[in-house]
This record gives sequence, structure tokens and C-alpha cells, in this order.
Amino acid sequence: MNVRASLTVFTLLVAAAASVPLLSASAAVQAPAPAVELEEHMQTLQAGSKGLEKALEKKELEKALGLVIEMQKAAHEAKLGTPVKAGEVTDAKDKAKFMTGYRLKLIELERGLLDVEAALVEGKADEAKKAYDAKVKPVKKAGHDTYKD
Ligand code: HEM
Repeated sequence: MNVRASLTVFTLLVAAAASVPLLSASAAVQAPAPAVELEEHMQTLQAGSKGLEKALEKKELEKALGLVIEMQKAAHEAKLGTPVKAGEVTDAKDKAKFMTGYRLKLIELERGLLDVEAALVEGKADEAKKAYDAKVKPVKKAGHDTYKD
């Protein structure tokens, strides 16, 4: 093999080796989020709700604030997930509608949680409780009625 041919083979080998991690990285980006992650975020919301209700009752504002922040993070992550029930919707248009509705419902939950946070940072415990009862609790029920298996 002459020098030119060796160089060509070498270049091809380097290019092939370099493309392997690129290919696997793009496959990882495209993979759908596993359902178990959504369940975990829901469990965080569940634990947060229980703690938040107690903290609001006892007017423990700092504790309530920490919990509401954790719930906001979980709602934010859950919003980007895919419910198991979406797998039952076969028509593409129906599926798009289902996923949009799901996302909007979690945006509603995030807004409710932001209202709870806003009241808490102002030291308004009663307002925080009102926001939780009116804008967080009912959104859970509505979300589950439509999007949970
Ligand atoms: C404070 C509000 C919420 C709480 C406390 C809550 C709590 C939970 C809990 C405990 C589960 C069962 C998780 C498991 O199986 O381990 C669950 C599942 C689920 N929740 Fe929620 N949830 C809330 C809001 C919502 C909202 C707003 C939606 C929809 C927009 C929603 C959609 C779902 C779905 C789709 C599942 C089934 C998981 C899956 O399909 O992978 N949740 N939730």
C-alpha cells in the first residue's frame, strides 16, 4: 500500500470511529421518556401535596415554600413526559390533541403552584391555602380523569 492509500484508509477509520458516539448520542435524544419517570414525578407531587397541606394548616411557611418548589420542579418534568394512556390513542390527530391537552393541564398546575408560592413569599398563609384549594387540588382530579389509565 502506498502512502496515499494508507492515508485514505486511516482517514476513513478515524471518520468511522468518530461517527459512532454521534450516532448513539442522537438515538438517545430521540428515545421517548420512559413511563416510570412520569410516575416518579407524580410520586413527588403526591408526597409534596401531603406535606404542603400539613404545613399550610400549621402555617409553617418556610416548610411549605420548600415543598411547593419541589412540586413545581416535578410538574415541570411531568409536563415533558408521555402518559401510558397516550399509547392507546392510535389516530395521529387524536394523539396530538391528547398530548396538547395533557401539557396544558400541567401548565395549569404549574400556574396554581406559582400562585401558592407567590402568596407564601408574601407571608400570606391564608391566601396560599386558598390558592392550593382552588388551583392545585381540582387540577389533579381533572388531569387524572382524562389522562391517567
Ligand atoms: C398535585 C397534583 C397531582 C398529584 C398529587 C398527582 C399524583 C399522582 C399519583 C400518586 C400517581 C400514581 C403514580 C404511580 O403509579 O406510581 C399519578 C399518576 C398519574 N398522573 Fe398525577 N398527580 C397530580 C397531577 C396530575 C395532572 C395535572 C395530570 C395530567 C395533566 C396527571 C396525570 C397523571 C398520569 C397520566 C398518571 C399515570 C402515569 C403514567 O401514565 O405514566 N397528574 N399522579
